[in-house]
Formats: sequence, structure tokens, C-alpha cells
Amino acid sequence: MKKEIVPLDILLFENEKELVKADMILLEYAHQAAEKAYAPYSKFKVGAAVKLANGKIILGNNQENAAYPSGLCAERVALFYAHAEYPEVAVEAIAITAKGNKGVIDTPLSPCGACRQVMAESEKNSKQQMRVIMQGEKGPVMVVESMKVLLPFSFLDEYLHKYTNTNR
Ligand code: THU
Repeated sequence: MKKEIVPLDILLFENEKELVKADMILLEYAHQAAEKAYAPYSKFKVGAAVKLANGKIILGNNQENAAYPSGLCAERVALFYAHAEYPEVAVEAIAITAKGNKGVIDTPLSPCGACRQVMAESEKNSKQQMRVIMQGEKGPVMVVESMKVLLPFSFLDEYLHKYTNTNR
């Protein structure tokens, strides 16, 4: 048996004012996107703002449905739209925020597992690191420079190509 320690590089900022301006602006867009979320069931509004290598900023928020699993998280709404509109353009960064209807969220929001998997594949296809900027409604901001930090052991398309005969 061999034990391996996987280091995780996390940057913690006291608040958004400590960020570089571009990240601060992206985070502000995410807050604005959260306001427009369709979350009548959970009352938990999530906002995401994606910055593309061509300078475009794409917004997304969670879209719920009375048939609960039919909804989609903010991160995937934003990323899928970005890839639908600009399939060849790399994602440089994504900012994620959330607000509930009880109390103020003052800790960074960390994306769900399914979103992490999608973000990881997006980063791999982009061939550049995706910076993830996370904040609640206010207060501390957590930044990671790559999805490898948030999902160190993602499921990779390589497995499919190597072990199936899909002729991609
Ligand atoms: N949600 C997101 O939009 N992103 C996440 O990373 C976690 C959860 C949404 C899904 C659902 O609409 C609500 O938050 C409560 O789970």
C-alpha cells in the first residue's frame, strides 16, 4: 500500500474587493444572474457567470421545474449555453454565487458534483485552466485556478475512447 497526498491550492479572499478587477466584475455578473433565477421550489437562487477567451460573458442561473429533476443548475445552464453558442472558445473563468430566502449566505458556494463533472470536461476541452470564483451573497471569496482542485478525480472521456469502440 502506498499513501499519496493530493495537494489542493485554494485562494481565500476576505471579500470581492480583494480580487483583481476582472474577477470582481465577473462575480458581480453572477450576483445579477442569481436575482433572475427560476427557483420557486427550493427558493435557493444560484447565479453563474462564464468568461470566455473571446471576452464574452455568459450568464446562467438555476432553472427549476415542478417535476423536480427536470431542472438544471446555474453552472450548467451557463456553460452549456456558452458551448452551444461558442463551441470552440475556451472558458477562462466562472463565477458562482447564491442566495436563499432565509438569512444571508456569507460563505462561498461550491458547485454540486454533476456541475463539477461538466466543468471538468469543459476545462479539458478548453485546453486551459478554468478559474472558479465562489462567493455566497457577500463576504469571503474562494478561488481555485483549475477544476482539478474541485474535482481531482473526474471521469474522463479518455476512458470511453480507450475501452469502447465508439470511433470518435
Ligand atoms: N443548484 C445550482 O444551481 N448549482 C449548484 O451547484 C447546486 C444547486 C441549484 C439546483 C436547485 O435549483 C437549487 O440550487 C437547490 O438545490
